[in-house]
Amino acid sequence: MGVAADSETPPVLVASNRGPVSYTLAEDGTLTARRGGGGMVSGLSALGDAAGTWVCAALGPGDREAVSRAGGATLDPADTGGRPVRMLDIPPDIFDAAYNGIANSVLWFVHHLLYQTPLEPVYDAEFERQWAGYTTYNTAFADALAAEAAPGAEVLVQDYHLSLVPALLRERRPDLRIGHFSHTPWAPPDLYRVLPDAIARQVLLGILGADRAAFLTRRWAGAFADCCAELLGAEVREAAPGGPDAFTVTYEGRTTRLGVHGLGADGAFLRERAHRPDVDERLAALREQVGERATIVRVDRTELSKNIVRGLLAYRRLLTERPEWRGRVVHVAFAYPSRQDLAVYRDYTAEVSRVAEGINAEFGQDGWTPVVLHVKDDFARSLAAYRMADVALVNPIRDGMNLVAKEIPLISERGCALVLSREAGAAAELGDDALLVNPYDIAGTAEALHRALTMDADERRSRAGRLAKAATALTPRDWFLTQVEALRTT
Ligand code: F6P
Repeated sequence: MGVAADSETPPVLVASNRGPVSYTLAEDGTLTARRGGGGMVSGLSALGDAAGTWVCAALGPGDREAVSRAGGATLDPADTGGRPVRMLDIPPDIFDAAYNGIANSVLWFVHHLLYQTPLEPVYDAEFERQWAGYTTYNTAFADALAAEAAPGAEVLVQDYHLSLVPALLRERRPDLRIGHFSHTPWAPPDLYRVLPDAIARQVLLGILGADRAAFLTRRWAGAFADCCAELLGAEVREAAPGGPDAFTVTYEGRTTRLGVHGLGADGAFLRERAHRPDVDERLAALREQVGERATIVRVDRTELSKNIVRGLLAYRRLLTERPEWRGRVVHVAFAYPSRQDLAVYRDYTAEVSRVAEGINAEFGQDGWTPVVLHVKDDFARSLAAYRMADVALVNPIRDGMNLVAKEIPLISERGCALVLSREAGAAAELGDDALLVNPYDIAGTAEALHRALTMDADERRSRAGRLAKAATALTPRDWFLTQVEALRTT
């Protein structure tokens, strides 16, 4: 890739809601640090010394206690792999309004095209309170970054939680070079317009405060550009071919460049981690359960956009329509709890378990459990499942990228076939060798599972080899450094 961190320039600041570490507080006052979860954190965690201070939010009581023990300084480097991490102790009601309210119940649902049923737009006094909280939370980040950044430094702001930060930070520190990265899809204008007009505009203008705004695929960058054109009347141009940008957006005399950086899997880390003793141990336990049967693996946060229920129904249809698979296949489904403060997520989590239990009750026999569902987050067990996958099922309704789609083919020891939603960002890179499905089409997904299970071994291995290569085309470190380099050419 040929991109290097430049030791002459100040290190790049990173800002995100979730940081690289989170803490739990035991009753006896002991604090235990744990690596933060999710695709964005795994991407940014691979940076080592390429990134400077990471500004993030305290997510719960454990984090707040760690911030208080740090006494306003950065967290204990022993917990953060030596990286300076500044956690902001935002008051719990403001954090809740910003994170559970606007970010996860509004913007997330808009961009994943889920803002209809079961979560319908309601713009009442509670929404106004949440929007005020979201603004306060974004302002706290802008203030912290303005205080932290060296003159002329670069700041990379992550995601939909912080969409107002670029413009707020520019007001405070016009000397900085500001980038914003969206890890989600971006909604097309007809669906984005479901937001109240003033708020839809503020979110766009917040991101346009950046010098450069980047996305995981050209499709999402194009949707953002379309929203700017339609809602703001901004001028959108395609950028010159061969350069680092995809589009430019000019509004009221200022131009923001739009880039595309398709975050890849961290192959070196995952290959090493997947062969440690704790993973071997879990692999042995899973093999015991599954035996010699073919294995369909999925690993997700329990998230409505991940479409886990339709995935299970597709597996059920496979067993119904193709009875030859009964007793010969196991679906290993890991669905880890996510955003459990929100009722809509709790209900979905319960539904996932209900549907899996229903399949086991309907088809299970002595010695064969058709679905092995685990809901307790265990990274080592996820890697063990990756290793034994014959088929990976990744069927989100819509997804910014989906790193699991990249990770399973990389780690599988069986040269696994990938059944992938065409609506995942990863489909843009893996589409030639994956079996693409319409995520709403349960029958089509069941048929793709059958094709994947019956794929000729040589074909499967050669496809898996190409998938693994595509999955690591842009390592997390290069994903970050290419953004920094592009930002420096502003
Ligand atoms: O952009 C989406 C994202 O930040 C992912 O990177 C990550 O998987 C997920 O959201 C994490 O969500 P949360 O921080 O709410 O658990």
